[in-house]
Amino acid sequence: MADLTDKTALVTGASRGIGRAIAERLAADGALVAVHYANNDAAAKDTVAAIERAGGSAFAVRAELAAATGVDDLFAGLADGLGGRPLDILVNNAAIITYESTIDQTTPEQFERQFAINVRAPFFIIQRALSLIPDGGRIINISSGVTWFATPQIVYSMTKGALNVLGRSLANTLGSRGITVNTVSPGVTDTDMNSWLHETDDAIPSITAMTALDRVGQGADIADAVAFFAADDGRWVTGQTLEVNGGLYLGPKAQAW
Ligand SMILES: NC(=O)c1ccc[n+]([C@@H]2O[C@H](COP(=O)([O-])OP(=O)(O)OC[C@H]3O[C@@H](n4cnc5c(N)ncnc54)[C@H](OP(=O)(O)O)[C@@H]3O)[C@@H](O)[C@H]2O)c1
Repeated sequence: MADLTDKTALVTGASRGIGRAIAERLAADGALVAVHYANNDAAAKDTVAAIERAGGSAFAVRAELAAATGVDDLFAGLADGLGGRPLDILVNNAAIITYESTIDQTTPEQFERQFAINVRAPFFIIQRALSLIPDGGRIINISSGVTWFATPQIVYSMTKGALNVLGRSLANTLGSRGITVNTVSPGVTDTDMNSWLHETDDAIPSITAMTALDRVGQGADIADAVAFFAADDGRWVTGQTLEVNGGLYLGPKAQAW
């Protein structure tokens, strides 16, 4: 565990999945965590309750990031919860994937919604957060391995490619303030976003077969990598993208000829 005592963190999309695991981990390390979510009040409450049961501190903040007022709503709730404290750690995790959003089927509305939530929101959240983040703060963006392997969901992949570019450029801009900016790219992780993993008998075995460490990822696998970047241990790492995927698509596991 790292020591985040007296630190604060905002994790977007922390009501479920990877974001929840990140919120729980940062809170376990001692940070006061803002658990952001869109609509699922029950899931957000459950995340906050789990953090508190484990001895940590958290509060929920609701904001629909596709809405024009989304970032304003987020920062209003954040200000209430922080009560004048700075924001030490920002994790841009919330995102959506529209599975039918392929080159032949994507509508302009689907395209714009994915870019609004996955790219526009993190960008303007960072812009707003910069006045709250002290020198030496941390920004961590959650991208995806689909930036380097091809999938039919091309719009989602494009949004994550944009995040990778954002991280590298911003790291250079913010370095003089000692703020690090890094990107964590999960592989296939068992969350609601990937409900297809549980819809057929062969989904999990097929992912396992292409993963060196022989299993599907869990939220905590990603959260532990985020915790490294958030902690003092990560102070000399910036502008980097870390693939956290158990060795997804490293190549054939056995010689096929
Ligand atoms: N799962 C994977 O295999 C995988 C792989 C690579 C990258 N990733 C990335 O990892 C991150 C987390 O993914 P996940 O699988 O944990 O997702 P998830 O289980 O679908 O959870 C999504 C979270 O984002 C919030 N959210 C969704 N739409 C929103 C909106 N319009 N405005 C504000 N918040 C919204 C949800 O809030 P509500 O609960 O209120 O709906 C929820 O907290 C994403 O950036 C995703 O692209 C995931």
